[in-house]
Amino acid sequence: MADKQKIWGGRFEISTDELMEQFGRSISFDQKLFHADIAVNMAWAQALAEIGVYSSEEADRVVEELDQIRKDFENGKLIFSPADEDIHSANERWLTERLGDVGARIHTGRSRNDQVATDVRIWIRENLAELSIALRDLQHSIISLAEKHGQTVMAGQTHLRQAQPVSLGHYLLSFFFQLQRDYERLLHALMDNDKMPLGSGALAGSAFPVDRFALAKRLNFEEPTENSIDATSDRDNITQVIYVCAQIMLHLSRLAEDWIIWSSESCLYIKIHQKFATGSSMMPQKKNPDSLELVRGKTARIVGHLVTLMTLMKGIPTAYVRDLQEDKEPLFDSLEQTILSVRIINGVISTCKVDAKKLLDSLDPALYSTDLADYLVKKNIPFRKAHQIVGRMVQYCEKQNIPLKDLSIEKMQEFSPLFQKDVLSLFTPLAALDKRNLYGGTGPVSLSKQINIAKKILNG
Ligand code: ARG
Repeated sequence: MADKQKIWGGRFEISTDELMEQFGRSISFDQKLFHADIAVNMAWAQALAEIGVYSSEEADRVVEELDQIRKDFENGKLIFSPADEDIHSANERWLTERLGDVGARIHTGRSRNDQVATDVRIWIRENLAELSIALRDLQHSIISLAEKHGQTVMAGQTHLRQAQPVSLGHYLLSFFFQLQRDYERLLHALMDNDKMPLGSGALAGSAFPVDRFALAKRLNFEEPTENSIDATSDRDNITQVIYVCAQIMLHLSRLAEDWIIWSSESCLYIKIHQKFATGSSMMPQKKNPDSLELVRGKTARIVGHLVTLMTLMKGIPTAYVRDLQEDKEPLFDSLEQTILSVRIINGVISTCKVDAKKLLDSLDPALYSTDLADYLVKKNIPFRKAHQIVGRMVQYCEKQNIPLKDLSIEKMQEFSPLFQKDVLSLFTPLAALDKRNLYGGTGPVSLSKQINIAKKILNG
C-alpha cells in the first residue's frame, strides 16, 4: 500500500514491507476502542472550536458526522482498509473521506499517543463499572446461600485435612469478604483511572492551547493529567486493572477448586446444576464441572497478563514507544474474562444444591480434638499438656481403629482423670460451633453478625 495514504506517510518514499504492515496493525483488537475514540474525537472537535481551529459550525458538522460514523459502524456498514493501522487512523480516515479538509483538521495538536491513552481510560471505566455490578451480584448470591446454611455443619479443613467443624455459611462468607476487598481495589483503580491524558500530544503537550479542564469535564474525567510525558507513556492504570482482575480470579479459582472436589463422587456435598456442567463425548455417564475448571484455567491466563504488563513496562525508555501497543490485548482479555468468570461463578452458586447430610456425615469425630484439649484447659491443665493428652488418645484410637467419640469415659480417664461424663456433649457439631460466637468466629451468633455486616456493605 502506498505510504502516501498513511497518516504518517509524507516522509516515506518506499512502501512498508507487507509483513511489517501486518505486524504493526492493531486494529483487529483495538477496534474495541471504537466508541471511546468517537467520544474523544467529538470532545476534541469541540475543544478545537473553543480556540478557533474550527468554527462552531464546522465543529457541529464534525460531531454530527462522527455520530453518523458511529451508527454506520454499528450497522456494519463500514469496513477497515489496509491503511488503517489502528482504530484511531480508521476513524480519522472515515471522517476525512466524508468531510474533506474539515475532517482532516481533526488531528490538529493531537497525537495518537494522547488519544489512545484517553480511549483506553474510557474503555476501562465502562468495563470496570460492569465488573463492579457483576461482583455485587455475586456477593448478593453468596449472602443468600450463606443465610440458608448458618447451621449446616461441615468439616473445616486445613492442609485439605479435616480440622474443625465450621458452618457452610461461614465458609461461604469468607468469599464475600475476599470479594469485598476486590471491590474496594476496583473502586481505587477507577479513581486512579480518572485523569485525562488528552492534550498531552505525542509527549510535550499540545501546542494548541485547548482548555484541558473543560475537555476533561466533557469526557467525564475528574481532571486532566498533570504531566504530558507521564500521561502518554504511563500504563500504571492498566497494570492496576489487570491486578484487580487477577486478584478476583485467584479468589474465584480457589472457590472453584473447593467445589470441584466437593461435587466429585468422593464427596458429593454439592451438586453443580446441569446448566453449568458438560458431558463427555465418549463416556455417557459423565457430568463434568467445566464451568469451575475454566475459571481456574482462565486464572492462569490473567495472572500471565499481569506479568506481561509488568515486563512490558520494566525496560522501556521514557515517553511513548510502540511496545506500549502490546498493553491492549492483556487488558481487554483480563477484564472481559473476569467479568464472565464472576457471572459464571454467580450462576454456579445460585443454582447449586447442597447436601447438608453428606456434609454432616463426612465429619470425623477427631475433629473435636481441639475441643477436648480445651475441656482440659478449662480444668486448669496448660494447653500444651492438654494437647499431648488428646494426641495420645487420638493415637490410641487410630491403633485400635475406633472413632474418638466411641472411647468409653473410663478409657478416657486413663488418659486424664479430669474427663467427666459431660465431655460427651462436646461431640455434637452444633456445640462445636456454639463455642465460637466471638466476633469473626463460626458460631451462629457470629455468623448472623457477619451477615448483617455484609448486608450493610451492600446497602452501602
Ligand atoms: N496503536 C498505537 C498504540 O496503541 C497508537 C499510538 C501510535 N503512536 C505512534 N507513535 N505510533 O500504541
